[in-house]
Amino acid sequence: MSEQFSHVATDYDAQFTHTKIGRYQRGQVLREVEPMLKPDWHVLEVNCGTGEDARWLSERVKSVLATDISPEMVAVAKQKAAEKSNVEFGVLDLNNIESLAPQTFDLIFSNFGGLNCLSPEELALFIQKSHALLNPGGLLMLVIMGRNTLWEKLYFSLKGEKEKAKRRQSVGPVMAHVDGKDVPTWYYSPKEILALSTKHFKKRKSVPIGLFVAPSYLEHFFSNKSLVLRFCALMDEFWLVPFADFADHYLICLEKKAV
Ligand SMILES: C[S@@+](CC[C@H](N)C(=O)[O-])C[C@H]1O[C@@H](n2cnc3c(N)ncnc32)[C@H](O)[C@@H]1O
Repeated sequence: MSEQFSHVATDYDAQFTHTKIGRYQRGQVLREVEPMLKPDWHVLEVNCGTGEDARWLSERVKSVLATDISPEMVAVAKQKAAEKSNVEFGVLDLNNIESLAPQTFDLIFSNFGGLNCLSPEELALFIQKSHALLNPGGLLMLVIMGRNTLWEKLYFSLKGEKEKAKRRQSVGPVMAHVDGKDVPTWYYSPKEILALSTKHFKKRKSVPIGLFVAPSYLEHFFSNKSLVLRFCALMDEFWLVPFADFADHYLICLEKKAV
C-alpha cells in the first residue's frame, strides 16, 4: 500500500505541483482554505504528499502535523520544510489516524485525492475517527475527485475511449495509473460524502476545484496555451458552486457536530 505512491515521490512536484494546472488547482484550494484558518490552530494534514501545503499552512497556524503513508513522500516533505519549526512529519496510514489520540486538532486537511484511495467503508471510518480527533467546532476539509468531471467525459469521448469516459461512475474501485503502477481508486460525489458524514458533521461549503481548469493529465495539451488556461482559471473564480461534482476535484468543508 505505502508503495503505491512511493515511486513518484521524487518526481511528484515536477509532474503535478509545479505544472501550470497543478499550480492553478492548488491555488484554488488554498484560496478557499485561507480565510477559514486561525493563527492559534493545530492542524493535522493527512496524505500530505511532498508537503507543499504543510509548508504553506505552517505560515498561517500554530502547528502542523503532516502525515502520509509513503515514507518517501514524507522524506521529500521534511526536506522542503526543514526551516519551519512548527511542522512535524510522520508516516501514517489514513486507516490508522486514531493512533494520534490523545492529540486533538482544530482542522484535519486532506488535499488532492488521498481519500480517493479509501473504499467507502474505510472512508466512513476515517470520517468517524476524524470527529474524535477534532476539537469542538473543528473542521474537516477534504479535496476529493468527484464522479462527473466534464473534462474527463469530453477528453475520453473525443478519444473514442467510452469506458474511460464513464470510469468515475463506477461503484467499485477503478485502477488509476500512477506513473506505471495501478492504484485502486474510488470516486465520490459531494452527496456521497455528506451521506457518510451526516451523523458527525454539518456541511459548511463545497466548491469545485478545476471545473474549467482541466485535470493535470492534460498539462501537455495546455503547455503552449497559457492564455487559454488563464482564461479557464478566471472562469473558475466565478465559483460555480452547484457544479462541484462536475469539476476535476471539489473541496468540501465539514464542521464537527456536538454528538
Ligand atoms: C495525489 S497525492 C496528493 C498529495 C498532496 N496532498 C498534495 O496536495 O499534493 C496522494 C497522496 O496520498 C497518499 N496516500 C494514499 N493512500 C494513503 C493512505 N492509506 N494513508 C495515507 N496516505 C495515503 C499517497 O502516498 C500520496 O502522497
